[in-house]
Amino acid sequence: AEALPRKNSHGLELTDPIATKPLLEAVEAIRGKQFKGGPIIDGVMGEADLPVHNPATGDLVGYTANTDKHLIDRAYTAAVEAQTAWDRLGGNERAKILDRIAELYEKHIHDLTALICMEAGRTLNDGISEVREAVDFCRYYANGARQHFSEPQPLPGPTGESNQLYLCGRGVFVAISPWNFPLAIFTGQVVAALASGNAVLAKPAEQTPLIAARAVQLMHEAGVPEKVLHLITGTGAAVGKPLIEDPRLSGVAFTGSTETARLINQQLAMKEGPITPLIAETGGQNVMIVDSTALPEQVVDDVIQSAFLSAGQRCSALRILCVQDVIADNLLEMLKGACKELTLGDPSKLETDIGPVIDEKALSMLERHRARMQKEAKPLFTFDDSKKPAKGTFFGPQVVEIEDFSLLEREVFGPFLHVVRFKAEELEDVIRRINATGYGLTFGLHSRIEGRAHAVFKRVKVGNCYVNRDMVGAVVGVNPFGGQGLSGTGPKAGGPHYLFRFANEKTKTINT
Ligand code: NAD
Ligand code: ALA
Repeated sequence: AEALPRKNSHGLELTDPIATKPLLEAVEAIRGKQFKGGPIIDGVMGEADLPVHNPATGDLVGYTANTDKHLIDRAYTAAVEAQTAWDRLGGNERAKILDRIAELYEKHIHDLTALICMEAGRTLNDGISEVREAVDFCRYYANGARQHFSEPQPLPGPTGESNQLYLCGRGVFVAISPWNFPLAIFTGQVVAALASGNAVLAKPAEQTPLIAARAVQLMHEAGVPEKVLHLITGTGAAVGKPLIEDPRLSGVAFTGSTETARLINQQLAMKEGPITPLIAETGGQNVMIVDSTALPEQVVDDVIQSAFLSAGQRCSALRILCVQDVIADNLLEMLKGACKELTLGDPSKLETDIGPVIDEKALSMLERHRARMQKEAKPLFTFDDSKKPAKGTFFGPQVVEIEDFSLLEREVFGPFLHVVRFKAEELEDVIRRINATGYGLTFGLHSRIEGRAHAVFKRVKVGNCYVNRDMVGAVVGVNPFGGQGLSGTGPKAGGPHYLFRFANEKTKTINT
C-alpha cells in the first residue's frame, strides 16, 4: 500500500508573545497542582503514593507507584488475549488510531509541554520540540503501518505457485524508556510496537511517570484498546524482573543506559519461553572535530547547542570537542565568552537556556566528575555557582581541557564539555580514538575542506554524522536516529526500517 503524504509537525515561535501566551497560561494552570501517575491496567489507574518532585523547585508534582507483580501478571494476561485481534485489525486501521493520537497530542501541545517542564525540568523550548517529535513518531509509524502491514507483499515464484510475504506483530512488547525525553521516546517506542500489531506493556522512567500516564490516557482516548496497552510504573529494581522474565514476553524496546541494556540482555538470554529480541538505544561518547578551516562563529553556536542545551541530558549531546591546535586558543576564547551568556534557571521561563538536571543522583555524579576534573584536567570555563538557583538540582555548564579521551571511561550525562587539541597530522589518530571508545552514536565535523566530510564519514563508526551544524535534535524521517556498538543495536528510530524489528515475517506459498 502507498504511504500518505506526511509533513513533520510545526513548532511555536517563542519570541512571539501571541503564540506563547497559551503555553505560559498552561504552565500557570498546572503550577502547584498534583497529578497521579500510577499503573494503568485494562484502562484503570491503580494506587499511587510515591511522591514525584519537580527537579527545578523540589515541589511535589504528583504521585506514582511501583506496580505490584500481580498487576503485571494481569497486564500480560489481558495483552496476550487482546493482541491477536489488534494484529488482525491490519495496518490501515491501526494507522488511523495512531493519526488520532497525533491529533490529540497537537490539541494538547501546551498542557503536555507544561507537564514535561514541571515533571522533568525540561525548558519550554525543549518541551515543545518533544511534543512535536512525539506527534511525528505517531504519523511516521502510522504511515509505516499502512505501507507494510496492510497488504502482504507479492513475491516471485515458478509457474503454478503463488508466494506472499506477511508482516505481523510478534506478540507482547515491553517498552522501557528514559526520563530525558519522557514523552517523545516513550511515545515513539509504544506507537512503533502498536503500529506493527503488538500489545504493549509500557514502562516509563520512575522520574517521569506523570507525563507517561497522560500519554497512555490520550492513546486510549484515541482508540487504542485498553487491553492492548498497559502502563507499568516503577523503578527497574521493582518491576524489571517480572516484566523481563515473563515467558509471554515477545520483544523489548529499551532506551536508556548501556549498563541497563546489558543487564536486560542477560536476563532475556536466561528467560523461559521464546528467544526474545532486544532493541536497545543507549548512551554515547560523542565527539566533534573542528579543523582549521571551520567558521569559528558557527562552531561556537553549534557547540553551545550540542553540549549545553537540554542541560546536556541528551544521548546525542557533545561530550568531547577536538580542535585543531592552530585555531584552538582563539576558538576557546570565543567559546568561553558564549558560555558566560548562558542562563541557568527556571525552565518554565522562556528566557532560560539551561534547566535543572533530573535528580540528586545525577547532580552528585556531575559534582564528583567536576571534582575529579579539577585534579586531572585544565579548567577552561567554570560556571559561577553563586548564579545557581537556591533550590533544585542545578549544575552549571563546565568546559575543561584534557590530554586524551582515555580519561573518560563512561558517558558523563550533563552539561560538561571536554576539549582535546590535535595537530593536522593527527586527524587519523583522532578518528581511531573515537572508534576505540566503543560507543557510536553521534559525531560532528566542522570543516570546509572539500572531500573531508565524506572521507571522515566513511571512517567513523557512528549512527548519526553531522557536518557543519550542531549534532542534536534528530528529526523523525529526516535524521533517523540511533547508534552502534555500545550505543545500541539499531534499527534507527524515526527511520524506514524501525517497524520491521517489531514484526514477525511469515510467507505463504500456494501450489495453484
Ligand atoms: P537507565 O538505564 O537508568 O533507565 C532507563 C530505563 O530503564 C528506566 O525506565 C529505568 O527504570 C529502566 N530500568 C533500569 N533498570 C532496569 C532493570 N533492571 N530492568 C528493567 N528496566 C530497568 O537510563 P536513564 O538514566 O533513565 O537515561 C539516561 C540514559 O539513556 C543515558 O545513558 C542516555 O544516553 C540514554 N539515552 C539513549 C537514547 C538513544 O536513543 N540512544 C535516548 C535517550 C537516552
Ligand atoms: N533524538 C535526540 C537527538 O537527536 C536524542 O537529540
